[in-house]
Amino acid sequence: MTKPGRARTAFVCGECGAEYSKWQGQCGECGAWNTLSQVVLEPASGGGAPAAARRSGWAGKVDPPRVTALKDVTQVAEVRMSTGIGELDRVLGGGLVEGAVVLVGGDPGIGKSTLLLQALAKMAAQVPALYVTGEESLAQVAGRAVRLGLPLDNLQALAETGVEAILHHAAQARPRLIVADSVQTLWTETLTAAPGSVSQVRESAARLVRYAKETGTAVFLVGHVTKEGGIAGPRVLEHMVDAVLYFEGESGSRFRVLRAFKNRFGAVNELGVFAMGDKGLKEVPNPSAIFLSGSARQPGSCVMVTREGTRPLLVEVQALVDASPLSNPRRVAVGLEQNRLAMLLAVLHRHGGIAVGDQDVFVNVVGGIRVQETAADLPVLLAVLSSLRDRPLPDKTIAFGEVGLSGEIRPVPNGEERLREAATHGFRRAIVPKANAPRGGAKYKDLEVIAVERLADALEHA
Ligand code: TYD
Ligand code: MG
Repeated sequence: MTKPGRARTAFVCGECGAEYSKWQGQCGECGAWNTLSQVVLEPASGGGAPAAARRSGWAGKVDPPRVTALKDVTQVAEVRMSTGIGELDRVLGGGLVEGAVVLVGGDPGIGKSTLLLQALAKMAAQVPALYVTGEESLAQVAGRAVRLGLPLDNLQALAETGVEAILHHAAQARPRLIVADSVQTLWTETLTAAPGSVSQVRESAARLVRYAKETGTAVFLVGHVTKEGGIAGPRVLEHMVDAVLYFEGESGSRFRVLRAFKNRFGAVNELGVFAMGDKGLKEVPNPSAIFLSGSARQPGSCVMVTREGTRPLLVEVQALVDASPLSNPRRVAVGLEQNRLAMLLAVLHRHGGIAVGDQDVFVNVVGGIRVQETAADLPVLLAVLSSLRDRPLPDKTIAFGEVGLSGEIRPVPNGEERLREAATHGFRRAIVPKANAPRGGAKYKDLEVIAVERLADALEHA
């Protein structure tokens, strides 16, 4: 039990947030080395209530909690407000829920501040909103708002990094929405650790989460992403917040994709698509064909229909297969899972009779988008084959389907919707799993549907 007056400390892994009572060289949870640092878990003034109780804010104020039958719990309907940006609403699950804390992650320069400033300006017309900047000066924020042509009248901004000061201001101004840009700059005076350290980020975020829950204020936290792809510092932030959105995109491309990675109030993997221009981020409400490279059919390219979230999307998978000078040839997957590529190449060898063991294999999804569903299996292998043979796939062909370890082609969800999307965009042939093909015949509108059951069949048709 914690003694009052003495701060409880622990050693916390900076990668995964696992806690230990003693220091050790390697984190037992995630296996990372030298990532443990000593963290003050809570301020010394906390008193004797159990830690969890104090965190949830009921300690000492009301009766201790009682077990309740769920049927007796009065349900409160979620109040959602539109952010004024349709694609952002879509990713949030239909608007921003009151009291929700949303972490927006992404590489530096991807457009997080721009997106949130635009959303804030739209929402500020309806509810009081506050933009807290810890990275840029007020002049920079104002300058950007002017350049983006945003109405400045209702935009309240605060250049501050101390959580106590932010909450003090919030308690007076009572905004319904707070954007904290970025969470890595926040610090709380109850901890002695340096700003930016695991414990500071964690405790500061926890205080904002508590404030959000107590007052029903919606909070956007901006977070930087490490080179490993996690939100920098403690992954614990992902557990504390209601939703985690990742902003992705290729540096060369003007398209940006916002993806729900976790969402307590909506579907995950929902995508919002934006284009960055000189007037900031513009929504792309009908993004189906923007991820095609537009180049004429080339060897090593295969178009697939993915279904991320609730709408189908045409994306192009490119492969380059080249004789390797290395004894251990490279397998590089960009926008796809690396291990899955290795597995697919093994299936290609074993069940398709095509060996790439002495070749480097690079696979890339065009447009900086990330495809996480197994429907990409078949397109990946067709692209690899096409590059290996140096022959393009037949013109206007799409493919999708999961490839199993025994060489079978498995169906994927929403086959008909994918075929419809391909037909709408003028594709003529589709190589798809048998169970996804329309029952009536081998045609779907103008689309010739080639139903395959085995990998060998699919390779033959390509
Ligand atoms: P920013 O929102 O500052 O990124 P983040 O907060 O994620 O670090 O976006 C900065 C980039 O966006 C910068 O490279 C310039 C570009 N940009 C435009 O192309 N057009 C614009 O209207 C704005 C405001 C930014
Ligand atoms: Mg920024």
